[in-house]
Amino acid sequence: MMLVHLQETDSTNTWLKLNRKSLSDGDAVTALRQTAGRGRIGHSWLDSEGMLPVSVLLRNPPYPETRTLTVSIAVCSALDSLYDVPPSFGIKWPNDIVLDGYKLCGILCESASDGDGIDIICGIGLDLCQSAEFFSEAGLPHAGSLLQLTGISPDREQTAQLIAEKVMEYSRYSFSELIGEYKSRCVTLGREVRLIRNGGEQTAYAEDIAESGHLICRNEDGRFEVSSGEVSVRGLYGYI
Ligand code: BTN
Repeated sequence: MMLVHLQETDSTNTWLKLNRKSLSDGDAVTALRQTAGRGRIGHSWLDSEGMLPVSVLLRNPPYPETRTLTVSIAVCSALDSLYDVPPSFGIKWPNDIVLDGYKLCGILCESASDGDGIDIICGIGLDLCQSAEFFSEAGLPHAGSLLQLTGISPDREQTAQLIAEKVMEYSRYSFSELIGEYKSRCVTLGREVRLIRNGGEQTAYAEDIAESGHLICRNEDGRFEVSSGEVSVRGLYGYI
């Protein structure tokens, strides 16, 4: 496994996608600066000195459809072994990593194919050491950094390396093998949530997670499932 260090790139996901032919399974890239970072559902992803971008290449991994969920467990496991903070790192469905009600990390998994199997590019953006003022000035009141929330000064290099290793290690597991751990970390379950899609909004109770990775919800019309590609989930009274 190799970790490539870049000074600057538009997006580490895009860089990995373009360069993946000369790379191997588990190779990863990080950068000091991203000029056009991308987030889920077409959003952009804010760059700053304190943000750590890491993208990991998985060549033709099993279970590509649920990879976006298993990667979040891999990242939590890396953070747990590096930073021993109670309570441990949680997951807001489908794959935001949260601590103490704040979003610490976003994950964007993308696929690329040339007809010989599907590569998955796992992009992780972890907020390491920005201040609370930085997030409020950026209009991101629900975001937080490791330093701000725990007082720990994270080591950029060591964190990038372990995240890449854990994403690779977890790539052999199916989501059904990890669903117990996922549910125990999932802060969305058992809450009233707002499901936001295509400009519309719906309120529901988040009841369970299916083996497909879908969020199982309930409202006055009954039980239904939502898939991660289509909705943004927010708590009724805040981010979670
Ligand atoms: C989200 O919307 O929560 C996902 C954010 C993912 C950001 C990371 S930073 C590294 C990689 N490169 C990108 O352009 N995006 C991902």
